[in-house]
Amino acid sequence: MFEVLPRLPADPILGLSAAYREDTNPNKIDLGVGVYKDEQGNTPILDSVAEAQKILLNEETSKTYITPQGVQGYIDGMLGLLLGKGHPVLVADRVAAVQAPGGCGALRILAELINRCQEGATVWVSDPTWANHIPLMESAGLKIEKYPYFDKATGGINFDAMAESLKANAKKGDIVLLHGCCHNPTGADLTKEQWHTVLEIAQSTGFTPFVDTAYQGFGDGLEEDAYGLRLLAENLPEMLIAASCSKNFGLYRERVGLAVIITNDSATRGILQSQIQSVARGSYSMPPSYGGALVNIILNSEELNQKWQNEVAAMRNRMQDLRVLLVDKLNEKGASTDFSFVTKQKGMFSFLCISPEQVQRMRNEHSVYFVDSSRVNIAGISKSNVDRLAEALVSVL
Ligand code: LMR
Repeated sequence: MFEVLPRLPADPILGLSAAYREDTNPNKIDLGVGVYKDEQGNTPILDSVAEAQKILLNEETSKTYITPQGVQGYIDGMLGLLLGKGHPVLVADRVAAVQAPGGCGALRILAELINRCQEGATVWVSDPTWANHIPLMESAGLKIEKYPYFDKATGGINFDAMAESLKANAKKGDIVLLHGCCHNPTGADLTKEQWHTVLEIAQSTGFTPFVDTAYQGFGDGLEEDAYGLRLLAENLPEMLIAASCSKNFGLYRERVGLAVIITNDSATRGILQSQIQSVARGSYSMPPSYGGALVNIILNSEELNQKWQNEVAAMRNRMQDLRVLLVDKLNEKGASTDFSFVTKQKGMFSFLCISPEQVQRMRNEHSVYFVDSSRVNIAGISKSNVDRLAEALVSVL
């Protein structure tokens, strides 16, 4: 039976790691998959996570199943982080949530849930969006449409076009997928004022926002990066949120995420809680416990929470410094293009706005690996590789 299936091309993001590993050039540079790296190019376990692991090792007494919704302390801690403790929707008991296997797991089960509400519903995604959003949504049966977002001419958002498109096209029953902060792949984020406009459009058209937030703390700060999400949650009757702990807790391989549904009222919350748990049960039964248990320990310990927040701030500051360093080096090496927009973008990624052919040349001629769209992982830059990177870029411009 298997002969009917064709071989598929490598994943546009994950496939880069294999190509990078095979490259024998000792000076190769990996700006591909979105993982944080330190100056030495390592992705270390955060100190707060290492301490939580020791605590868990001493305290865990059983490997029996956890509850279908996940570790309750984790869920409550994460809701506090996302929405802010005491947010009106929490007080009003309007939030259904389950621990999910990573941000992808959260996105996928929420997509399945949307399809249960309205088969084949339309999801509007930014142009461009994270490469995996589209297959995730489509494989749950949803239809994808795109709204204009990134403006290559400025390296920022073409917000007028985005707002116009949403006003004209997104209707009640449609879902609009928004990036909570640190837009992946472009690093171009909505301003506070623009979030208010998005809220007004949602109120006038009736679309349901679906916020994917995987980089909280990597843009302007843990609180600041939740501004848009909290604004929509406070002012709209319904909303979906997919959150990930891969990046800000560095828990990539542990697959820790949260799927959140904000409902119109408390009675509907109970119904949605049962529905989302049934989607999870029909897909993977229940989430893995380990990563959620670590986040639970960190968020519920004053000392570890503070340590973790300092570690998030250090990662954020380092990435902001690297943005400035890259642009300075490009100028120093005589780049013919103005890359100053890179310093205005937020989080882990930037679009360099070069062509796929130039990206190929970076790979083939200079062993510098990043996504064909020209998305680079800023955290892969270091003081020791930035000169080579800037020279290579200037040579392909
Ligand atoms: C990325 O965007 O590089 C990461 O989120 C890893 C992935 O799964 O694509």
